Amino acid sequence: MIPKTDVVRLAALADIHYAKSSQGSLQPLFNQIAETADVLVLCGDLTDYGLAEEARVLAKDLAAVKIPVVGVLGNHDFESGEEKEIVRILTDGGAHMLDGDTWEFRGVGFAGVRGFCGGFGRGALGPWGEKIIKDFVHEAVQEALKLESALARLKSEHRIVVMHYAPIRDTVEGEPPEIFPFLGSSRLEEPLSRFDVTAVFHGHAHKGAPEGKTQTGIPVYNVAHAVLKSNYTDQPPYRLFEVHTGSREDQTVTPIGEAGWGRRSTDRPTPEKRSAAAS
Ligand SMILES: [Fe+2]
Ligand SMILES: [Fe+2]
Repeated sequence: MIPKTDVVRLAALADIHYAKSSQGSLQPLFNQIAETADVLVLCGDLTDYGLAEEARVLAKDLAAVKIPVVGVLGNHDFESGEEKEIVRILTDGGAHMLDGDTWEFRGVGFAGVRGFCGGFGRGALGPWGEKIIKDFVHEAVQEALKLESALARLKSEHRIVVMHYAPIRDTVEGEPPEIFPFLGSSRLEEPLSRFDVTAVFHGHAHKGAPEGKTQTGIPVYNVAHAVLKSNYTDQPPYRLFEVHTGSREDQTVTPIGEAGWGRRSTDRPTPEKRSAAAS
């Protein structure tokens, strides 16, 4: 039997930092996303000061998005100790907020965690010495374990990881090197390779690089709003990807350049047009 092929379009965005005064500010963008994508992926720092009131403003603007929304919180969403209320508000609005959880859509599985910091590679902070250092490292280890167990539960053909902090150094390049250890952790990279993840989306590094790869070649995309605005000046500030499901020779996530905007998966391009659209 020939496997049924399908294309799921993901629109990915992070660090929108909604404030009390943001009502309507991203609504045109959200409307455009709803017309071009099948799923909206939000990678944390959804609010500016972590206030429930800010989340209510965002939920109102997201109400117009009639496609599924899946996301994680970022560090800003914890600033005021109202993170649980933020999750409740966004969940009540229909978003799938992940914290070591999974969600599936048409053969594409999502695993999400906030992640944490601590640095990369040989420069990563180790759990040694004072208790407070051990506790700090423990947080990154716990986030990596949460991600690992979420990925272990996903049985879908494609596994997409959503996080706030960076799992690799590549996508924080562009930030001052002094703050690299606060932008992500290599500990988040290990589960990605173990479960052969299809692609990873994160934010947090506002001045970082838009694309990188894990040591095993898994694509990692930094979709922070500021990164997209400065790197893709001719496109709206979100990234659009096609996930090809059901086709053995075409199991990839393809970033869509300018030529691919404006179509949904229901009127997807022919293979010739698709390869022309890939950037
Ligand atoms: Fe941010
Ligand atoms: Fe952040």
